[in-house]
Amino acid sequence: MASSAELMQAEADLVRHSLGYLKSMALHSAVKLGVADALHRCGGSASLPDLLATLPLPPSKQPYLSRLMKVLATEGIFVAEEGVAVANGGDGATCVYHLNTMSRLLVNDAGINGGSAWKLSSCILMTTTRQIVGSALQLGQWFQSDGEATPFVMANGRPPYGVAAHDAEFNSVFNEAMAADSRYLADLVVRECGEVFDGITSLVDVAGGTGTMARAITKAFPHVKCSVLDLPHVIQGVSAQADNVEFVAGDMMEFIPPADRILLKYVLHNWSDEDCVKILTRCREAIAHGEKEGKVIIIDEVVGSSSQNILEAQLLMDMQMMSLFMAKERYEQDWNKIFTEAGFVNYKIRPILGVRSVIELYI
Ligand SMILES: C[S@@+](CC[C@H](N)C(=O)[O-])C[C@H]1O[C@@H](n2cnc3c(N)ncnc32)[C@H](O)[C@@H]1O
Repeated sequence: MASSAELMQAEADLVRHSLGYLKSMALHSAVKLGVADALHRCGGSASLPDLLATLPLPPSKQPYLSRLMKVLATEGIFVAEEGVAVANGGDGATCVYHLNTMSRLLVNDAGINGGSAWKLSSCILMTTTRQIVGSALQLGQWFQSDGEATPFVMANGRPPYGVAAHDAEFNSVFNEAMAADSRYLADLVVRECGEVFDGITSLVDVAGGTGTMARAITKAFPHVKCSVLDLPHVIQGVSAQADNVEFVAGDMMEFIPPADRILLKYVLHNWSDEDCVKILTRCREAIAHGEKEGKVIIIDEVVGSSSQNILEAQLLMDMQMMSLFMAKERYEQDWNKIFTEAGFVNYKIRPILGVRSVIELYI
């Protein structure tokens, strides 16, 4: 029989896990309120009264802000410094909140992060949309039912790209999140492994969304002619030939334009093994027609890490893929199998992007 101390610890852990979704909602609220931007405007730190003075909070909600900030600081999203003497000779002490590396990622101002506004706040807004949270709420019922519908379809009536094609707001939230992720990742890729783009002349970013990654690649490597292939509702509205990037509306299952590099960033984890083999086969055909020795560059997760936080993020992303697409994040042996089936003979995995890896695939 467990000791009383063990029981109480276990019960506290159950409470933490069962209410864990409130951490996501607290983060969502902070993004909606613009807390990180407010702290940034105050020079990176602000007392609770100063924060209240700068946030668009109605007076009736102001007493609740300290409780939201306490949860966020406990989770390490902001730093809270308790007991700081109030300014201007006032009585008592207050709490001062500081931005840290994590909350700086949420700031929308271009002056942050060495001149890049990645605006990863957009990713928080996407993962906490009614449609995506709604699909997670269906998971329990999905496990118990024998049907073919994904949890996302059970919640929303259509798959994610179907909802995006019919719901302009979801389409815009989704594409802005993908663009934010690409702004962030492009800077990291250029910094950590820019050499994968050395010596090439053409690249197609397959399912490349609104072209943020392709634009960053042409900016860093002006000699590379970049094209983006994506679905018509995504390409619509993107200015043609913007920043030397060509946009092609099409279906990657059918045809991928030839190039000496094909990029697949955060695409294959949306698809089943069978569909990945189909997509990679189209990629193999596209590089076989290129002028140089072709390569496919995949930026995606390879599950497994010595960092507990990275592993947890990968496993949660895997659940997310299950819920949205009945797809998955893959371990190396899963990748190996689909690469072989698609006719590739060699690959190199470089786990250099935190949660994600760069995988280079050769014929
Ligand atoms: C998770 S998003 C990734 C977008 C982009 N690679 C990035 O990381 O920002 C997946 C993309 O696949 C696109 N897509 C889905 N089905 C497609 C298809 N059959 N052909 C081309 N693109 C497709 C979607 O429109 C979406 O832009």
